[in-house]
Amino acid sequence: MGMVDLTSFDSQMKKRVTEIKSIIQNYLPEEEGFQKTLLEAVNYSMLVGGKKLRPLLMQQTFVMFGGKSAVVQPFMAAMEMIHTHSLIHDDLPAMDNDEYRRGRKTTHVVYGEAMAILAGDALLNHAYETAARAFEMEPDNPRVGKAFQVLASKTGLYGMIGGQSVDVEYVDQPLTEEQLYFIYRLKTGALIEGSMMIGAILAGASEEEVGKIELAARNVGLAFQIQDDILDVIGEQETLGKPVKSDEKNKKTTYVTVKGLEKAQEDVAYYSQEAIRILDELPCENEFLRELILNLIHRSA
Ligand code: IPE
Ligand code: IPE
Ligand code: MG
Ligand code: MG
Ligand code: MG
Repeated sequence: MGMVDLTSFDSQMKKRVTEIKSIIQNYLPEEEGFQKTLLEAVNYSMLVGGKKLRPLLMQQTFVMFGGKSAVVQPFMAAMEMIHTHSLIHDDLPAMDNDEYRRGRKTTHVVYGEAMAILAGDALLNHAYETAARAFEMEPDNPRVGKAFQVLASKTGLYGMIGGQSVDVEYVDQPLTEEQLYFIYRLKTGALIEGSMMIGAILAGASEEEVGKIELAARNVGLAFQIQDDILDVIGEQETLGKPVKSDEKNKKTTYVTVKGLEKAQEDVAYYSQEAIRILDELPCENEFLRELILNLIHRSA
């Protein structure tokens, strides 16, 4: 199990992200009809920029468990729609009040607040319409229903939206370590958990294996949000495609304010390696997925 050399990792990454963008494109609306502006706002937020990390993690977990069919594709697109919905709403004046995302003006700056709220709602709903296509593709596959359930629950009250609610409610208040972990596990971890679990479920993984994937993904999610906090302090807007110092502006308690920059950096590596350790307990492997998780430790975007 040698290290994938970097040039080949980078070129594989490029190829896969391009492929994922074209899969997602298949499920995006035509900009026509009286609701054309809404459809434009939806496509504006989805099409340009973004790492497409969640569909990539879903696809690579699917491949790791030997998945081959196209049934994962509508779920990949759906997860990216839910994630994008969360970003449009996260950037609204009522939430983080940010003006840049994915290298350009946020949806509410371009289309106005009302249209951005609706574009976010529309994407959340369109995600389920999109994932439901998998039922037509494989009507006799009971795993599609299970995956659909995971998609919904990792997004909802006990998932991403639940986490965002605590994040905004406790803004500018001190947080206990337990509250901080709770917020990160839900607001960011849940969609990453859901992505990898859906990949595993659709590929036929056992319940125990899906449990391990959930745990591995939880660690990836924690590392990912801690790195996001670090980049908010030491990153560059040009590279990130979104503003730096947004957390400071909003007086947010973050992993960096609680533990300091150095400890935060150490913990990104720790949680990522923990994820790899859990993945390595599984009977199957995917070297690209391992490299991807390790590469995220040093991401600058
Ligand atoms: C940003 O997610 C929001 C967080 C959960 C930290 P990403 O960093 O994956 O954003 P995009 O999709 O690449 O724009
Ligand atoms: C991200 O938290 C969580 C979600 C959007 C669900 P942040 O508010 O830190 O994300 P960025 O930094 O704006 O991308
Ligand atoms: Mg936020
Ligand atoms: Mg934000
Ligand atoms: Mg952030």
